[in-house]
Amino acid sequence: MANLSNPVMSSSALVEPRPLRVGLLGFGTVGEGTYRMLLDNAESVAAKAGIPLVVQRVGVRDTQKPRSAPSGLFTSDLQSVVDDPEVDIVVEVIGGIDPAVALVERALANKKPVVTANKEMIAKVGHRLVNQAHKNGLDLHFEAAVGGGIPVIQALKHQLAGNDVPRMLGILNGTSNYILTKMSETGAPFDEVLAEAQGLGYAEADPTNDVDGFDTLYKIAILAGIVYGGPADLDQIHREGIRHLDAREFDYARILGYTIRLLGVAEECGPRRVRLRVHPTMVKNDHPLAGVRDVFNALWFHGDFVGDLMFSGRGAGADPTASAVVGDLIDVARNYNLQGSGSAIPYGQSLAMEPMETVESRYYVRLNVLDRPNTLGRIATAFGEHEVGLAEMEMHVVGPDEGEIAFLTHISKEGDFVRSLTAIEELPVVNMVAAWMRVEG
Ligand code: NAP
Ligand code: HSE
Repeated sequence: MANLSNPVMSSSALVEPRPLRVGLLGFGTVGEGTYRMLLDNAESVAAKAGIPLVVQRVGVRDTQKPRSAPSGLFTSDLQSVVDDPEVDIVVEVIGGIDPAVALVERALANKKPVVTANKEMIAKVGHRLVNQAHKNGLDLHFEAAVGGGIPVIQALKHQLAGNDVPRMLGILNGTSNYILTKMSETGAPFDEVLAEAQGLGYAEADPTNDVDGFDTLYKIAILAGIVYGGPADLDQIHREGIRHLDAREFDYARILGYTIRLLGVAEECGPRRVRLRVHPTMVKNDHPLAGVRDVFNALWFHGDFVGDLMFSGRGAGADPTASAVVGDLIDVARNYNLQGSGSAIPYGQSLAMEPMETVESRYYVRLNVLDRPNTLGRIATAFGEHEVGLAEMEMHVVGPDEGEIAFLTHISKEGDFVRSLTAIEELPVVNMVAAWMRVEG
């Protein structure tokens, strides 16, 4: 971070360096956690950074709220924080786009490095911000934006960067993983478990971002941007949430030896060509991701040289997320102290995106059928005519003249599989395709 001067250090190496002064934008879950960690661990943070870090000013919406920090720190004029010459570095933990993006742009224009936890901002305009930081030789770090306390971004940017990465699979949203774990283990329906998650403070009053897959979409886009070297068009990422999942799918998953997880999936389909998708997935019980329960997050990564890796840990909450923010701050402070250059790694061209039709996967499907002698044969023929091979099956009578069949297929092309379902839905012995899902493991 060449353009931040530290006059006390440069005038004499013997003089105690003056602290790095932090301007905190936001004092909610993450902001308060970051403040507390900087206080509680002040000594070890200063020792590792080579310079003390102090919170100089805090921007919030409501300065009248009771806070766990001296009231003199707070202001509702957030622009004054990023413009303050006594603020050396800006931490953005407000969230969302407005006013976060404008404030980060202004901080960078003011030659201040930035640390943020804001996945929506980084997924939508991160390439622009990172390029701005890079041009100015500034740091822009966002470890907390994906996986909370799990140090996955730095690992992908640096230590794993030499690998070609055919696939990454992530459980990237704690709220939805908690809901899926409870639905699977208690048999309770979605609405009941969501209400419980809200009561425990895991899910927000408006749970859309979490349960409809937006949060996971932002996170897998950020990871893909780092691994494949360019921004992804968010509109071309396939997204399904977990609201529609029926308790029956959890029953069949259990019988067949699987568990259901909301996955963010990134696959390399050619040079700078990727397919990104977010959807509930049946994960085989012996896959490492199947054991990731409750609010935990995980990233399963396959690199051509390193092989399979999995990172897991707490993906949300004040303390784990503060751990990631403070880790980034220490990185910036080391640069500041050593007068190093900014470490923002610029994005390249936008990634080319591959359509869902070309996914190759195994599939689960549950059909409601008429309980007739020729039902199974006609369904199996329709799958076969579309190049879809069947691997496993569970069949139950559920009423007079009514049956339910759950199939697991062999690996098939998604286009073939979807066309087979259209044909099957038209068979006179099929009442409906009740549900289907992609399968891992
Ligand atoms: P939060 O608890 O809702 O806190 C948001 C803070 O920003 C509050 O202090 C609020 O002020 C302030 N704020 C919001 N809008 C503002 C505006 N227009 N002007 C001024 N101040 C404003 O949010 P959070 O959970 O800490 O999340 C912050 C960021 O971290 C988000 O990008 C989130 O996605 C990300 N993140 C969160 C977690 C987590 O576990 N919570 C984990 C990883 C990443 P008041 O206090 O006055 O309301
Ligand atoms: N709402 C997010 C989750 C917070 O549930 O995982 C962390 O980004």
